[in-house]
Amino acid sequence: MLFALLKAKLERPDPMDPTIRKIDFTLNGQKVSTDVESHLNLVDLLRRFHLGGARESCGQGLCGCCTVLVDGVALSGCLTLAQLVDGKNLTTVEGLDASGDLSLVQQAFIDEGAFQCGFCTPGFILMTHQLLEVNADPEEQEIRDYLSGNLCRCAAYPEIIRAVKTAADRMRARGL
Ligand code: FES
Ligand code: FES
Repeated sequence: MLFALLKAKLERPDPMDPTIRKIDFTLNGQKVSTDVESHLNLVDLLRRFHLGGARESCGQGLCGCCTVLVDGVALSGCLTLAQLVDGKNLTTVEGLDASGDLSLVQQAFIDEGAFQCGFCTPGFILMTHQLLEVNADPEEQEIRDYLSGNLCRCAAYPEIIRAVKTAADRMRARGL
């Protein structure tokens, strides 16, 4: 275990290293490749592909605005170096529904008015997708706990909780 942790640390790119590396990854279902500097983070990598859903706010892993699913796991895009996503599968809020339509979670957020400025919304939506994958019928406290790493400065929390419940109801009704 210690060896694995040490190895992972050693393999982590040094942000001060000016080396540019080519990385290949899957972005919302499309295979892509690009050259990245070692200091580049995931949010800035996504900007190069004209994706603005993941937003950098605190820049410290505290607010969830920059959430990206990497191999199905929610990561903070502000703290994740772009070179680390080489070979991975990335999903952003723009790629939640392969057909290009809104996902049921996105629609529920709109229907429940679960945002004001919308800056935090992509992060909440991605986390809600993750939650409903592991728990199709979460209790209110489970929703609050799961989303506790996401902050909404507009304090739209009551509407967000309602949107998660609505999305869960609709997904279960469709057998999803
Ligand atoms: S900007 Fe990444 S967690 Fe806040
Ligand atoms: S809707 Fe404005 S920060 Fe959440």
